[in-house]
Formats: sequence, C-alpha cells, structure tokens
Amino acid sequence: MTTDAAMRILLVDDDLPFRTALADSFSIAGLEIESFGDGQSALESLFSGQSPHELPAVVVTDLRMPRFDGHALLSAVLARDPELPVILMTGHGDIAMAVAALKQGAFDFIAKPFPTDHLIASVRRAMETRRLVLENRRLRQAVAEVSEGFPLVGESPAMLRLRDTMRQLARVEVDVLIEGETGTGKALVARQLHRWSMRSNRPLVTVDCAALPEQIADEVLFGTRIHRGQIAEADRGTLFLDEIDSLAPALQARLLSVVQDRVLHGNGGVSPREVDLRIIAATKADLRAEVAAGRFRADLLYRLETVRLRIPPLRERREDLGVLLSIFLDEAASFHDRPRPVLNAPVLDWLLRHDWPGNVRELQNYAVQLTLGLRQDGRMPAEAGTIDMALSAQMDRFEEGLLRDTLARLGGDVSAAAVALNLPRRSLYARLSRHGINPAPYRKQNA
Ligand SMILES: Nc1ncnc2c1ncn2[C@@H]1O[C@H](COP(=O)(O)OP(=O)(O)OP(=O)(O)O)[C@@H](O)[C@H]1O
Ligand SMILES: [Mg+2]
Repeated sequence: MTTDAAMRILLVDDDLPFRTALADSFSIAGLEIESFGDGQSALESLFSGQSPHELPAVVVTDLRMPRFDGHALLSAVLARDPELPVILMTGHGDIAMAVAALKQGAFDFIAKPFPTDHLIASVRRAMETRRLVLENRRLRQAVAEVSEGFPLVGESPAMLRLRDTMRQLARVEVDVLIEGETGTGKALVARQLHRWSMRSNRPLVTVDCAALPEQIADEVLFGTRIHRGQIAEADRGTLFLDEIDSLAPALQARLLSVVQDRVLHGNGGVSPREVDLRIIAATKADLRAEVAAGRFRADLLYRLETVRLRIPPLRERREDLGVLLSIFLDEAASFHDRPRPVLNAPVLDWLLRHDWPGNVRELQNYAVQLTLGLRQDGRMPAEAGTIDMALSAQMDRFEEGLLRDTLARLGGDVSAAAVALNLPRRSLYARLSRHGINPAPYRKQNA
C-alpha cells in the first residue's frame, strides 16, 4: 500500500466553477483532489466494488446538493469507515445542520464563503488525523499478530517470504489465488489474509467447492428467492472459494460475472445486484494445466489470479520440520493428556527421510500417532532406553516402522510398497518376514 493512495482527497460539490477553482488552489498547495459533481457518484467511487481500492484520506463535501446531499454522504461514509474524516461545506443558514453533523461524526465544517486557506488547513489536519488512524490500525494489527500468535509456524526462508507477501497483500485488497499441495495451510493463509484486511470486521465466508453437492451447489452459492446465497452473505467481506479447481463448469460460468464485474445474478427472478467482495481462492491443482486440459475456464482463471500466492510443500522447507513437530507434539500431548514423546533417533531419521506428501497435516497426524504410541518409529518416554539402544537395534526399529507405515499408507499393497521403498519385491518380502510383519491386516483395514 502506498501512502499516496491512502492520502487521496475526495471533493464533492455540484457547483462546477467552484469545484474547479478549489481543485486549482489545492493543486497549488501541493494537494491533489479527485472531484465529483454529486453525492451519488462520489459514493459509487467510494464503494466501488469493481476494483476494491483504498478509501480516500478525507472527504470534503457540500452540504446542500440536489438528490443525494452531504448529510446522506456523511452517513454512508461513516458506515463504511467511522474514522474517515468528512469536512462539510455549508451555506449561511445551515449552521444548525452542520452542528448536528459534527455530533454525528463529521470532522469539521466550514461556512461558505470561506478563504481557501481555511479549507486547506482543515484538510491538512484531517489528513494528519487519518494518517494517525491508519498508523494506529497498523500497529494494533502488528500487536495482535504477536499476541494472538501468527498461525503459520516456520522460520524457513520460504516461510518468511510467504509471511512478508501475505502482510503486503492483506492490506491492498486485491483478489488472491492461493496455490499449494494438500495440507500446506491454504485455509490458514486465507483466514489470516482476511484477519489482516480492512474487512476483518466483516464475515469471511468459506465455500468448499469440492464438498458442494452438485444438485444444490447453485442455490448455495447464488441463493434462491427466499434464501441468501453464500456470495450475498459475503457482501462487504471476503469470499473464500476453497478447492476452486473442483468447481463444476456451469458454476464456473456463473461465477465469472461475480469475479469479473462484482455483479450477482441471483436465482428465481431476483434482479442482479452489485456485491462488494474480496475474493480469495485456493487450489491444489495447477489451474493453468486445468485450463489447458479444458477443465477450467481460462477467463475465470485470469480474473482469479490477479495475485498468486504459492505455499511451498513441506519437503521444500525441511528446516521447519523440527519446530512444527515440536509444536504439534505439545498440542497432542496436552489434548490427549499424555506425556510428551521424546524425539529419538528413529523419529528424527524418519522426519528427515520422509517426503511428507500430506505436508503439514500429515506431520500433525504423525505427532498425534507418536503421542498415542501408535507409531513404531517413536517411543514413549515410559519405554525408556530408545536413545541408548545400539545403532543396529535402532535401525531395525526404524526399518520396521518404515515398512509398517508404508504398508499402512498403501493399503497393504506389497508391490506398491516395493516401488515406494525402491526395493525389489523379493527383498521387501524378506524384510517383512524378518520383522514378522504380515501385510494382510493392512489390506483389511483399508477395505
Ligand atoms: N505453517 C503452519 N503452521 C502451523 N500449522 C499449520 C501450518 N500449515 C498448516 N498447518 C495446519 O495443518 C493443517 C492443514 O492446513 P490447511 O487445512 O490450511 O491446509 P490446506 O492446504 O487447506 O489443505 P487441503 O488442500 O487438504 O484442504 C491445519 O490443521 C493447519 O492448522
Ligand atoms: Mg483446505
């Protein structure tokens, strides 16, 4: 976010020569203003859902205007952001109204005719106030981030980069496409982007596109005559389209106008309406490949990927394994009321050799299994002595754990396990029998 964008001045007055003269004076004073001839169009620009942008720093508006007057504009602006300074320009007879507006939350009023300097001085005070408000919000957010604990654990360079990008993105309100393998934390990232955004006091509506039953998906998203859909529900907040790669083609087509024009074409004869959304989408699949394969609409992808945020898989940031496991062990031990397992050589070895295809979620499950003593490659402290075991015995345990784990993962399929472990089948069978492992129960478990 650039300071300039947040320091814009919006001027609203129906008197064109007056507006032009003011614009010149402001320009000479080194301040740029954006001017509007009526409250309605100023408001549309303020609330424009098309490309959500930063609000201006100050709104300067005439009080008396045909149709949509300064008073209505004040109310609308304050509804949007109660800390946005609004300066009213009033005629002689309007002092009582102006005082009422001050009570309502206007920053200042100035009676016409006035020396331009007075208005400029007031605008400068308002800008300074706004700057402090924004700075304050930023600090509050930073403090909250520290005290709430940033949810994404990890200090690897990749994680630090991700965190930096997230912080920048959260404030600029652009649409974001989150890409990452299963269990990398896409949902966590989406939630945090919302929390850090200016919409954090509005809802984050999550649509799990993969879990939407086809028959009702349309109604759930776009609503019916009676029920508001999830898109309308997210108005002025954030719409999180999780697993967007699994969205049916018909829904992709309907979603396009929402993503592209922020217009919701509802069901059952409800007339189209504008929605003010920030859209965050998440995908496991490479959407460009999906487009190439004809499974995903190119025009929808182009709209969604304004900014792409890639979450690296765990195997690309192995530095984070230790701290993540340690935190998950703490959590699992306290949740299940068990002693915290000691990290021994087999566990560490497994940690480093394993590829973690299920990423952070798999590691989290692994921590639970260790804590509950369900894993051969992790020992409870009660079963002391692991660390002191001879290396060969440790290797044996590790091997047994690896074999059992692989079988469990592959549903007892010995051929697949042989491929996964890069062993000839004969050698795998020999090892299984040496450890007394029978693949059959693994097959049954998964049947
Ligand atoms: N960096 C991290 N630090 C701490 N916990 C994490 C981190 N990344 C993910 N998690 C945790 O891992 C689990 C999986 O994360 P999440 O559900 O966000 O992944 P996902 O990418 O949405 O997965 P899927 O594609 O399978 O839906 C969650 O319990 C989440 O809290
Ligand atoms: Mg998810």
